[in-house]
Amino acid sequence: MEQLIGRAARDLVDAQYAIALTGAGISTESGIPDFRGPSGVWTKNPEAERRAYLGYQRFMADPKKWWEERLANPGLLGDLGAVMPNAGHYALVELEQSGIIKCVITQNVDALHEKAGTKRLLEYHGSTAKLRCVACGLRFRRDEFDLSRLLEEKQLPPHCPTCRGVVKSDGVSFGEPIPGDVAHQSLEEAGKCDLMLICGTSAVVYPFANLPRIARERRTEMARKTGTGISAVRKVAAVTIIEVNADPTPLTEEGVSDYLIQGKTGEILPAIAAAVKRLRK
Ligand code: APR
Repeated sequence: MEQLIGRAARDLVDAQYAIALTGAGISTESGIPDFRGPSGVWTKNPEAERRAYLGYQRFMADPKKWWEERLANPGLLGDLGAVMPNAGHYALVELEQSGIIKCVITQNVDALHEKAGTKRLLEYHGSTAKLRCVACGLRFRRDEFDLSRLLEEKQLPPHCPTCRGVVKSDGVSFGEPIPGDVAHQSLEEAGKCDLMLICGTSAVVYPFANLPRIARERRTEMARKTGTGISAVRKVAAVTIIEVNADPTPLTEEGVSDYLIQGKTGEILPAIAAAVKRLRK
């Protein structure tokens, strides 16, 4: 483990444009369950996962009913308002502040990266702290709408003040398109990074799980001197892909990632950040 942490620190220091991708695993040490780990939300309640697959269809069919049900039942992950970031989130902030990590693309809707202080953040599956107009894509903080008054006055669903489109939670449901702005920017980041640090995701949900594969396929030209002194150009991988995860994932098994540092993000990421600091002294 120590050797891999040292290797990751050297790779991060050598990188020109490193980005981090995160999933629910980085938030379990803040007390938020993941989905597919041993005590995951879907692991413990497969029926809830089946229902989640129908959520977006139900919203589109009857946004008023969807909102009434939503306001009557707390989210699957419980009340996230009081949950705090953990050492894993703060380690990514430290790596961003030292100029190493240029962007964090997260699948998490818990807003913990934002709370920890990450500046360049793409919330690929949206955020429970926000609402979004499904017509024009405009996002709002939840408190910009008085949802309980709209419920009482039977004025649901909320409507966008700009285009009058229907407003839903910003969280992206299964089957719902990834908002265009985030989808485009995430592809741009995967297209220009030379290091991808993938933390706490089972990497089984698409299109997010495509991002490491898109990066893996990128090749760059490397010139090298042959025995006769003539330089030969060969194509090499353009990106180093590092996983930090409790378990191997399809990215590990398919060789999409270069190496897996197996364990807790809340322990490994701070150790990597500390090793980077020592290298840069
Ligand atoms: N440290 C490192 N890895 C961890 C930790 C931890 N403390 N806790 C859990 N893990 C690992 C689990 O072993 C698992 O491989 O994190 C991974 C979490 O995977 P999932 O539960 O599938 O979560 P995620 O990959 O984010 O799911 C993607 O699926 O249901 C949808 O929209 C939801 O965004 C979510 C998407």
